[in-house]
Amino acid sequence: MTAIIRAAEPADVAELAEVAAATFVLACPPGTPPAAISAFIAEHLSPARFASYLTDPARDIRVAVRGGDIVGYTMLVFGEPGTPAVAASLRFRPTVELSKVYLLGDHHGAGLAATLMNATLDAARARGASGVWLGVNNQNIRAIRFYEKSGFAIVGAKTFQVGDQTYNDHVMERSL
Ligand SMILES: CC(C)(COP(=O)(O)OP(=O)(O)OC[C@H]1O[C@@H](n2cnc3c(N)ncnc32)[C@H](O)[C@@H]1OP(=O)(O)O)[C@@H](O)C(=O)NCCC(=O)NCCS
Repeated sequence: MTAIIRAAEPADVAELAEVAAATFVLACPPGTPPAAISAFIAEHLSPARFASYLTDPARDIRVAVRGGDIVGYTMLVFGEPGTPAVAASLRFRPTVELSKVYLLGDHHGAGLAATLMNATLDAARARGASGVWLGVNNQNIRAIRFYEKSGFAIVGAKTFQVGDQTYNDHVMERSL
């Protein structure tokens, strides 16, 4: 079944939050406390949070829809990174953060991730970005491999907080 990639709409927020809650755990390293995961989802991935992301002019959310259902999404955040060390490691300006890339597990390994990535990079280019960067947990081998296949290279490191746990991320970047 062919997938459609399109910009997210206000009517999508409940389904987007469901997909986000189901997929966030897939990116967490083994051993991440379930309570920390639940708290992160409640704080950052609720329907209300997605509704506010959608009205934020600095953000762009794309959804992958297959058979009428949202099966994955990406979120871009335009502008300079908030962390000086990340900003210092980037080579291309203007830059945009690829803040989220998530597909439901049933859709991994099927080529849909590349289709979603390409549409998202097109959206970044259309807004004038010359480079795109992301943070990925350094144990998330599948995602790192996918980003390498998508043209990203490791250019630095940062940390990522889930509850009181601090995790180590690679910073990856590519030109557009
Ligand atoms: C990240 C994501 C969108 C990538 O989509 P995908 O469909 O899994 O990507 P692909 O299958 O095209 O690429 C994954 C690659 O990793 C490889 N891979 C998978 N597990 C691996 C492992 N344990 N060790 C080494 N390589 C591995 C796959 O073989 C594939 O490489 P190949 O095409 O050269 O064979 C998807 O896996 C996902 O949503 N993951 C959960 C959420 C997540 O981690 N998001 C990223 C947060 S930063």
